Amino acid sequence: MCGIVALIGSREVAPLILEGLRKLEYRGYDSAGLATIKSLDQEKKGVLTCEKAEGKLVNLASLLEKTSVEGHLGIGHTRWATHGKPEKQNAHPHRDQSGDVAVVQNGIIENHNLLRNELKSDGVNFLSETDTEVIPHLISKQLKKLKEEGCLDSGETLLKAVQLVLSRLEGAYALAVIWSNAPDALVVAKRQAPLIIGLGQGEFLCASDTPALSGFTNAILPMEDEEIALLTPLGIELYDSAGCRQQRNPLILSENENAVDKKNFRHFMLKEIHEQPETVELWLARHFPQHLSDQFPISLPFEESFYQSINQIQILACGTSRHASMVGAYLLEQFAGIPTTVFYASEFRYAAPPLSPHTLTIGVTQSGETADTLAALAMEADRRKNFGDPSFISRQLAITNRPDSSISRQVENVLDIGAGIEVGVAATKTFLAQLLSFYGLAIAFAARRNSRTLDEISSLIEELQNVPDQLRILLNNHNQITESLAHNFSDTKDVIFIGRGINYPIALEGALKLKEISYIHAEGYPAGEMKHGPIALIDHRVPVISIATPGKVFEKVLSNAQEAKARDAQLIGIAPEGPDTAIFDSLLPIPNVTEWISPLLTVIPMQLFSYHIAAHRGLDVDQPRNLAKSVTVE
Ligand code: G6P
Repeated sequence: MCGIVALIGSREVAPLILEGLRKLEYRGYDSAGLATIKSLDQEKKGVLTCEKAEGKLVNLASLLEKTSVEGHLGIGHTRWATHGKPEKQNAHPHRDQSGDVAVVQNGIIENHNLLRNELKSDGVNFLSETDTEVIPHLISKQLKKLKEEGCLDSGETLLKAVQLVLSRLEGAYALAVIWSNAPDALVVAKRQAPLIIGLGQGEFLCASDTPALSGFTNAILPMEDEEIALLTPLGIELYDSAGCRQQRNPLILSENENAVDKKNFRHFMLKEIHEQPETVELWLARHFPQHLSDQFPISLPFEESFYQSINQIQILACGTSRHASMVGAYLLEQFAGIPTTVFYASEFRYAAPPLSPHTLTIGVTQSGETADTLAALAMEADRRKNFGDPSFISRQLAITNRPDSSISRQVENVLDIGAGIEVGVAATKTFLAQLLSFYGLAIAFAARRNSRTLDEISSLIEELQNVPDQLRILLNNHNQITESLAHNFSDTKDVIFIGRGINYPIALEGALKLKEISYIHAEGYPAGEMKHGPIALIDHRVPVISIATPGKVFEKVLSNAQEAKARDAQLIGIAPEGPDTAIFDSLLPIPNVTEWISPLLTVIPMQLFSYHIAAHRGLDVDQPRNLAKSVTVE
């Protein structure tokens, strides 16, 4: 949530900061702002200029074309509103009363009310409703005190002032601060929100995420919680919360980690939907042997005995990652025979079930930064450590698309889904890659626990090997069918998605995709539950999208669809062609595969249907209103 970029170097920073913000816009686009300091040779003090604009970054960019924002030091921000409406006065950077100190922040300062009241009684006049605005005022107050104590105008003094202020802040933050009296100093700090320092040639660029560093540097220093750094053209001074100097070697990012290109597609989302055959191919090549001998798919950093000893798996996730986890739970229970429960991470952290022994906890997060998922995993690790029964086996595994993210630094075992950067805020290819990880895990557990025969495992793997080609055919055929179908439904107010068993989470995901990008109310429901309430919503205006794939619940779903048709619903089927599926008014045909493999295919028409409805309505598909791709606040 919110992206920050800060740069100190030897060239004009405004265009570079703007470019960095463009790559972080997926983190929020309610407003954007930028502040720079231009140093004046004749005086020590520089000139601080600040520009902000409501709405997307493009508004700030056109404002900057008309104004002059100069300097070799600057900070920028793209906002996802938490405290205060998405209006210009709440846009970052925020400044102190003199206008000499400017701050950008990502996070939530939980005690901001208390601090605001204290500052107000000192006579401070607030210009915004944000929690962040307390920070520049507090820094300003500290700077005044330090100067009275004899400190000079310098980066060291700014560092000291920020350190003192941080000790008063409660909550999570990643922030960057500049002060016109120290025109060659940038101070950055982090607690529970990501911040990465990129090391360039005589320049430092700090950002909330690595894509912002693309084209600038591959050498990065991810900051740890409670660290603060003073950056000057001469180098970095990094300190922990106790003020002890830290030394660490930079990490090197691989080139393709940062590739962000729309190719010839109209939207990133459409491009990412079409990348899915390749996502599966790459994943299979990386994790699955061509022929099963004594080699099992997916190598996890667990000892062999661990596979045998665990009694249960619990999965913590949010949003689309939670839907992928629900398919995962189905596979882990029904294929591998391990009791598995999926929790909303935001609920689990305050209402975890009683501890039970021999548990694997899996955190699933595309971004690796979702605050609730990180906090729930940390809470679970703590309570298991403090439980004090050494016979309890407890391990954690992170499933993420960003092996360089916070979750990878927090959790010992990481499974990289390797889908490549996803720019569209609505997850598509990363959802599929998360599903694949669960197929891998279920097969790995089933093979090692002997819960399935080698034949059963081999035939599932064989089916997986066919998926890339089946996806190519689906994408070719369905792009047009869903587009014309979408035209008929683009004014629809409510849509119901139904599925059962392994495809129930796909119904949830279909509804979520539609809500997220086309703002149409949609419900995902287990088909058998329709008669216990939601059927009351149905009339001729409500399309019911039914996922019906041959297997245990095929006929059941078809009967549930018939029940909706009897109430005049318009029936859309995601099902194989055949006499059974002639009941549907419109059919989005999928190949005749086993139930096990079906979610990897049934999700495609869902994604395309939502995409085309949103595109037809002329909506901003890649940056839907009120959403952000990385949710770093609770
Ligand atoms: C946000 C995004 C969703 C995503 C969810 C969880 O709400 O808009 O697309 O599913 O966060 O994100 P994660 O990175 O943890 O998978």
